Formats: sequence, C-alpha cells, structure tokens
Amino acid sequence: MVAEAARSRPGVFDLLGFVDPAPCYLTVQLVAIPRLGGDEALESNAAQVILGIGAIGINSVRKDLVARLPRRQSGWARVIDARAWVSPSASIGEGTVVMAGAIVQTGAKVGVHCVINSGAVVEHDVELGDFAQVGPAAAIGGGAVIGEGSYVGLGARVRDHIRIGSRVLIGMGAVVVSDVPDGLCVTGVPARTKSK
Ligand SMILES: CC(C)(COP(=O)(O)OP(=O)(O)OC[C@H]1O[C@@H](n2cnc3c(N)ncnc32)[C@H](O)[C@@H]1OP(=O)(O)O)[C@@H](O)C(=O)NCCC(=O)NCCS
Repeated sequence: MVAEAARSRPGVFDLLGFVDPAPCYLTVQLVAIPRLGGDEALESNAAQVILGIGAIGINSVRKDLVARLPRRQSGWARVIDARAWVSPSASIGEGTVVMAGAIVQTGAKVGVHCVINSGAVVEHDVELGDFAQVGPAAAIGGGAVIGEGSYVGLGARVRDHIRIGSRVLIGMGAVVVSDVPDGLCVTGVPARTKSK
C-alpha cells in the first residue's frame, strides 16, 4: 500500500525497493517492486525510508524500529497518496503515511510515523500523537486528541474534543463518546472498556 501511495506522485519518489525478513514473493509479483533483503539492507542504504508496518497492536514495533535504525540524514519519507486530501494548514510529521481517500482537515497536527488509512477522516484541529494509527474509514471529530501509539479501529468514531490516552486500542465500529485513559481497549456503541 505504501509503495502504491508513493507511486501516485510521479516524480516525487524513486522507489528502490522494500526490505522484509521474509521472501515476500507475492508482494514482489503483485506490486512489481524488488525486495532488497532483510532489515540489514537498510544499514547500507542512504535513501529515505518509510516504515510500512501497519497491523493492529504493533505501533510499538514501528517505534522500536525508528529507535534502532540509524538516523537518516535525509530524514524519513512522508508519503501522502495523491488521492488523499490534506489541508494546507495541517501538519504531518515525518515518516507518516496518508492513504488514498483519507481527509486531514484544517489545523490538524499529525505526529511522526503515523498511519492514516484509506478513507479515514481526521477533522479540524485534531492532534494525533506519534506512532498512532487511524484505521480505514474511521473518523475523529474536531479538536479530539489521540495519544502516542494509539489505534483507532476500522470505521470507529471518536467524538469531537475528547482525549484518548496513549497506547489505547479502539475496536472497529466503536463510538467513543468520552475520554479514554492510557492503555485501555474500548469497543461498542457507546464504547466501553473491553475486558481482556
Ligand atoms: C477489539 C479487537 C482488538 C478485539 O480483538 P480480539 O481480542 O481478538 O477479540 P475476539 O475476536 O477474540 O472477540 C472477543 C469478543 O469481543 C467481541 N468483539 C470483538 N471485536 C469487537 C468490536 N470491535 N466491537 C464489539 N465487540 C467486539 C467478539 O464478538 C467477542 O465477543 P464474545 O466473547 O461475546 O463472543 C478487534 O476485534 C478489533 O476491533 N480490531 C480492530 C480491527 C481493525 O481495525 N482492522 C483494520 C485492518 S486494516
């Protein structure tokens, strides 16, 4: 998905390939992009890097990788699909990916290494913490604050102006109507803490 988002902006990126510990034959074939090797291939490469790691519950993996990999002289790539819309007054941190159909509205502040997935809506003045992820078609109301490393599930809704802590997991389809403290998982309508 990241490669296709980058390709949507001809002339902006020159895609060298991807790294993955697994052979990924299907990705190579389907997306027509070479595999450069495992993570070690990054060490010898001066190019900008984008972390395309987006599954549920692994925002911390992205954070660990950023800490482990040598700092890129050229920074981390910021990929905004040409079919997304990002307000000129919004800010997007380095290493963040915004997928097709997403909307990031006026004054929103998106941290570093976030993922804003297909068709998600990040409304005006939302603050999205570093390493947070917004699932496909999820919507975050104006002025809401989402803490570092939190995950807003597929199609979830977050009420405007509320505060979601760090490392929170919001289940798919949830409607969050009040603040959520750090580290909780909430689901349902209205969203309630999910017992483990
Ligand atoms: C909330 C979530 C993390 C729970 O995952 P899990 O712990 O593996 O949960 P399970 O599938 O084992 O289900 C456990 C129970 O929770 C319920 N449940 C699971 N997800 C739920 C949700 N989003 N809303 C309401 N109930 C949910 C199940 O029906 C089940 O109920 P039961 O015990 O009465 O049968 C997960 O369902 C979820 O919403 N993930 C986000 C998915 C997503 O955003 N995907 C995007 C991919 S691009």
